[in-house]
Amino acid sequence: MRFLSSLTYPKSSFWVSVLFTGALFFTMFYSCGGHTHDSTTVAKDTLVEYQPPDTSSLKDDAYGALVKYGAKLMQNTAYYIGPKGTQGSYLGNEMTCTNCHLDRGAKTFGNSLYTTHKAYPQFRARENRVLTISDRVNNCIERPHSGIPLPLDSKEMLAFVTYIQWLGKDYDETKHYGHGIKTIDYKGKRSNPEAGALVYEKHCKSCHMADGQGVYDSTRSAYVNPPLWGKYSYQEGSSMHRVIKSASFIYHNMPRTVTWDKPVLTVQEALDVAGFVNSYLIHERPKGKDPNYPDPRVKPIDYFRGPYNDTFSAYQHTFGPWDDIEAAARK
Ligand code: HEC
Ligand code: HEC
Repeated sequence: MRFLSSLTYPKSSFWVSVLFTGALFFTMFYSCGGHTHDSTTVAKDTLVEYQPPDTSSLKDDAYGALVKYGAKLMQNTAYYIGPKGTQGSYLGNEMTCTNCHLDRGAKTFGNSLYTTHKAYPQFRARENRVLTISDRVNNCIERPHSGIPLPLDSKEMLAFVTYIQWLGKDYDETKHYGHGIKTIDYKGKRSNPEAGALVYEKHCKSCHMADGQGVYDSTRSAYVNPPLWGKYSYQEGSSMHRVIKSASFIYHNMPRTVTWDKPVLTVQEALDVAGFVNSYLIHERPKGKDPNYPDPRVKPIDYFRGPYNDTFSAYQHTFGPWDDIEAAARK
């Protein structure tokens, strides 16, 4: 077992066996379809898939211990800092970081956290100010997790940041690919949430259940399969709530056994099911404390709520098509 070799998880070894499969990494050459939507899109066929470091290579010192604690926090977030957390109550729900940052941020294009430590401090449109990496961790705690910020000087925050830095320490953007979420090619397409209901029935319901509430294991304070909507899921206005972002994640990672290069869904099916899951007309989810952007000019095109810097409707921004919106923004 590579990556997890020296980690132990509280209460159960279930995750260790589940993640055994996820911890097998393959190096392969990748040739790209050609379009570029963001920095995660691979442009060259000379890049190789990043292989994250192995925790067994860590020394038995304070740094090594902190990295390992960070990995455990990513894996069993709610156990430590959830509503009934052993280290304090910070999260408002019992989702874990690894529910969305797959394999603790170490899965290729599984919302991985490889370039993250290099990318901060960074200006973020969402807050209209410069954020440190700790602020960014707290964003995910406040938004998808509906929580309250971890103290910046807490052991837990230090562990998250140290883990993230360690995870991406050998990542070189001129040599590697695999960071973040690879964006789908949504050109000329829109999301049809009604068609998405059928995709859900066929490809998602078996794990996330008919009511979208997933499967929860109370003995571990963890989801076997996390909720996709409802009061225990991520908030309105979090990144996963945006249809393009969510469809990109789903296309490359769901059903859970899929790898980015062998998707099961078509791009259209991913867009449709992302619209179904995230539709504010079909499903409720926690309302964001501050679901808006301070500056509409820098709002992502697929954000669900106006005001926008153009005249397109909230419906079109949310469900597409996005071509005219992008063309207008370029002017
Ligand atoms: C409901 C899903 C979800 C959960 C749960 C979640 N995140 Fe995130 N996180 C996201 C998405 C989506 C992004 C944005 C990725 C993008 O824009 O490509 C993100 C971004 C981030 C980033 C910034 C990455 C970068 O390179 O800029 C960090 C750091 C982060 N998350 C940490 C965490 C931590 C730590 C936890 C657990 C406490 C967590 N997240 C839980 C969905 C989630
Ligand atoms: C085989 C079971 C399985 C199937 C089928 C499946 N998922 Fe998942 N899904 C998971 C698991 C498990 C996670 C959490 C990842 C982890 O903790 O390793 C997850 C995470 C997610 C997440 C991010 C976390 C959250 O709760 O928001 C989304 C979004 C998601 N799945 C959507 C879908 C969609 C849409 C489909 C159908 C196309 C689907 N999944 C099919 C098991 C599954």
